[in-house]
Amino acid sequence: MKADVLLGLQWGDEGKGKIVDVLTSKYDVIARFQGGPNAGHTLEFDGIKHVLHTIPSGIFHKNAINIIGNGVVIDPVVFKKEIDSLKKLGANPEKNLFISKKAHLILPTHRLIDAASETSKGKKKIGSTLKGIGPAYMDKTGRNGLRIGDISSPDFIEKYKTLVEKHISILERFGAETTHALSEPDEKLWMEGIELLKNLKFIDSEIEINNYLKSGKKVLAEGAQGSLLDVDFGTYPFVTSSSTICAGACTGLGIPPNKIGEVFGIFKAYCTRVGSGPFPTELLDETGEAMRITGKEFGSTTGRPRRCGWIDLPALKYAVMLNGVTQLIMMKADVLSIFKLIKVCTHYIQQGRKIKNFPYDIAPSSIKPVYKELKGWNCDLTSTNSFSGMPEELFSYIKFLEEELETPITIVSVGPDRTQTLVKEVLLG
Ligand code: GDP
Ligand code: IMO
Ligand code: MG
Repeated sequence: MKADVLLGLQWGDEGKGKIVDVLTSKYDVIARFQGGPNAGHTLEFDGIKHVLHTIPSGIFHKNAINIIGNGVVIDPVVFKKEIDSLKKLGANPEKNLFISKKAHLILPTHRLIDAASETSKGKKKIGSTLKGIGPAYMDKTGRNGLRIGDISSPDFIEKYKTLVEKHISILERFGAETTHALSEPDEKLWMEGIELLKNLKFIDSEIEINNYLKSGKKVLAEGAQGSLLDVDFGTYPFVTSSSTICAGACTGLGIPPNKIGEVFGIFKAYCTRVGSGPFPTELLDETGEAMRITGKEFGSTTGRPRRCGWIDLPALKYAVMLNGVTQLIMMKADVLSIFKLIKVCTHYIQQGRKIKNFPYDIAPSSIKPVYKELKGWNCDLTSTNSFSGMPEELFSYIKFLEEELETPITIVSVGPDRTQTLVKEVLLG
């Protein structure tokens, strides 16, 4: 058996949580492969709206095995909050949630370093979620990190203290307030999170996942963030600190490249970005504001307003290429229902010439988007429940994107609820 991967093709918040939840009934195992509490994956069903940060979006399905892979960074404080609220909703994480021993821990001091680093950058700040993601991955690659497997070791506290000492010297170099670094309440909450983690099963997830595949079980790898936030291929330095592309599923779960099956690439029918960094199709006018209000485009993790703009095909083509996307999933078609005309960025102008690729520099001073106008469907989609029932203009929009991206769109989402999902069953197998 091969593992399928679902990942975001834009700057995150494409709707990964919703679709993983919808697809979970077809899978035995759902596994997160990177990122951490910077992610906010929203699920809506039976009148409940729930946001997951570290926990895979299959958690509400009793029979699904949920795995947090080695590529994920875990903050025990956020994790405990997630577990507590899941339990209130009747989920049973002690039974169907497993954590890689090799996943790294986010310490309270990682969050402080994140904040100090952002402050020191001033206007050039990344717009980080301030969850300590960058500093935690820096300790991982710098070979100083603490891992889930260390929790069971007798010298865990000693290792923790050594790392905190190192962090305090970093904070001092930033000129940041360090008394807070040693704050007892913060440390107490963190240790409570560690105690809660001990109730869960720590596993060699790479071995278990490969065994599942060998025994014919169906595995879906769930990405966080999006390809344009990838540490290598995203809009660096305005990126996150992990590999958000399909290759990240290999390193973040231990799945060999030849065991990757379908790659579901998910995108919004328009485009959003939260945090700093270039965004060629951004709309700073009332059209962008209308998208933000209609699409409720406010961050699931930080509540920050998301920047909105038209869909960007050169960027999407780049993401489809990097990930080897086999099926596309288009989200939030209902949000574009408010427009009579819809714009699609098909090219950029760079130094007076039309280009189709996604260049190294996408700053406004380097490129300008070129748009094609398409007729909008401009009608309510709530009663649309199949591909064949779609308004003609929506169908044409999908056809146009499929041709440009040379990949079929097999799922179209027309609302936040689980049920508001149109699936081209034939291609899902
Ligand atoms: P993720 O990080 O990729 O899981 O996405 P988020 O949960 O951060 O953001 C997606 C937002 O869009 C959430 O509030 C979802 O409930 C909502 N959403 C998902 N699909 C649709 C859709 O088709 N239409 C509308 N209107 N909202 C949607
Ligand atoms: P999901 O999984 C959207 C953005 C931040 C910031 C940059 C770096 O919900 O799609 P970080 O905290 O990772 O150091 O921030 O990345 N960012 C996201 N934007 N969705 C996310 O996750 C994001 N995770 C990080 O806003 O610009
Ligand atoms: Mg999100």
